[in-house]
Amino acid sequence: RQLYGKERLNSQGVDLSNEQVLQQLQQSMNAAATQPFQAASLLAVADVAAAAQAVNNPANHADVVGEVVFSQPAVVADVVAAAVAAQGEWAALPVAERAACLRRFADLMEAQQPVLMMLALREAGKTLANASAEIREAVDFCRYYAQEAEQTLAADAKPLGTVVTISPWNFPLAIFVGQTVAALVAGNTVIAKPAEQTSLIAHYAIGLLHQAGVPRAALQLILGAGDVGAALTQDERINGVIFTGSTEVARLISRSLGQRHDNPVLIAETGGQNAMIVDSTALAEQVCVDVLNSAFDSAGQRCSALRVLCLQDDIAEHMLSMIKGAMDELRVGDPCLLATDIGPVIDAEAQQNLLAHIERVQSGARSVHQIKLPENAAAATFVAPVLLELNNLSELKREVFGPVLHVVRYAAADLDKVIDQINSKGYALTHGIHSRIDSTVAHIGSRIQAGNVYVNRNIVGAVVGVQPFGGHGLSGTGPKAGGPFYLQRLVQCRHWRMPV
Ligand code: NAD
Ligand code: ALA
Repeated sequence: RQLYGKERLNSQGVDLSNEQVLQQLQQSMNAAATQPFQAASLLAVADVAAAAQAVNNPANHADVVGEVVFSQPAVVADVVAAAVAAQGEWAALPVAERAACLRRFADLMEAQQPVLMMLALREAGKTLANASAEIREAVDFCRYYAQEAEQTLAADAKPLGTVVTISPWNFPLAIFVGQTVAALVAGNTVIAKPAEQTSLIAHYAIGLLHQAGVPRAALQLILGAGDVGAALTQDERINGVIFTGSTEVARLISRSLGQRHDNPVLIAETGGQNAMIVDSTALAEQVCVDVLNSAFDSAGQRCSALRVLCLQDDIAEHMLSMIKGAMDELRVGDPCLLATDIGPVIDAEAQQNLLAHIERVQSGARSVHQIKLPENAAAATFVAPVLLELNNLSELKREVFGPVLHVVRYAAADLDKVIDQINSKGYALTHGIHSRIDSTVAHIGSRIQAGNVYVNRNIVGAVVGVQPFGGHGLSGTGPKAGGPFYLQRLVQCRHWRMPV
């Protein structure tokens, strides 16, 4: 638990090490799993003829979590009209009332934690620890932005208008909620378009937000694929887009908004090609723990995850043998079990892309180490964590979004070349440094391009209000989520001057 602001504490989450708490949580999750989850867009008039699609658990395809009716781009026009019409009334509420809705929603999420965790486990394949962190982060975003809005939004700050929020599946609650409540508390009406893979949890969260007092018209939900997102961002009545997802899609949205004459706001948080530089003074045991956690936690499906480990050559052999040994202890499998370290990747398409990458790279790799999957695994989309030692960083072209750790060796004299190579990828999201020489840390830290730099620790798990998160270059536009400048991008500040 960390303190932010003067008086606010981060959400506590569940103590999974307490056997009694865990047992109770599992009972509540099992009870929640017996209800059928069904989801559709809110203004679903145009969807009546569409068939519902089953949502399967990526860790066990036989487990059907619920059903979703996806909208087509044709519904977008009506939904935008409804959100635009509701904007004046929502913006007219005092900021304290909007902030109170966020706080009530945070309380509701904490009270409904077992349902939300169960959905994060079964719809998104999150492990227990990751599912708990997911709810905590969503709660933190609400309380943090509520406080920020009250303390920093000037009484005459003018909301942008209607904002579209488009989110990815890898933080199906935290990012979805963070974008949405930030835009709302600033006085905008919102049309939320979650990733199609995680529609159930998003739909459930929207129900809680309405229960917390946000009017239905002020907060619209559209469930659908990328074409629905594209139609939303092309509608000239919307005033801003908050997007988190791939760099490629962010580029499409940016192009489409750029054609307009009125400069709608775009906040984009995108991918990374994150590196950790480890010199010969680093504490080997700590590096080993931090590398495993950064590369393989969440099955590597974090934008912040470690993709390239750069090892100084005189410690490389020793570090690699430790890391490979520790990898063999990782357990891949059923995310509902506390002993599981790594769950599935999100779907068959992600699995195929990862397996194709591994096959392509491993033939030319200097060394390869892949752990074994459990033999009796259910039909599922698991990918066994793998370490691929490359001869050169230039062999890695794109973000590889899964449990794949690339390693390169460097000579001490070539440290600056390594930094230049990392920077030349164009991403600037998270990077890590492991060294016990302060001047080396300072040197790398000042030269490397990153939104978040981590020293002698892992490189994932930014904490709202404590460690704002986000990058630049190909990794995003800023401002950082969970930080003090975020809400300012969602309003127009006006300065009045009267005759003196
Ligand atoms: P994605 O870009 O495929 O999809 C993200 C969202 O965009 C989904 O809701 C999708 O339906 C929608 N979309 C797809 N095409 C669209 C279009 N043409 N117009 C508008 N919307 C469209 O990304 P993903 O696979 O869901 O998520 C993984 C990616 O997200 C990775 O690249 C990861 O690095 C990135 N990510 C970044 C952050 C961050 O904070 N920087 C956080 C999480 C994930
Ligand atoms: N905010 C997430 C992390 O830091 C992406 O891992």
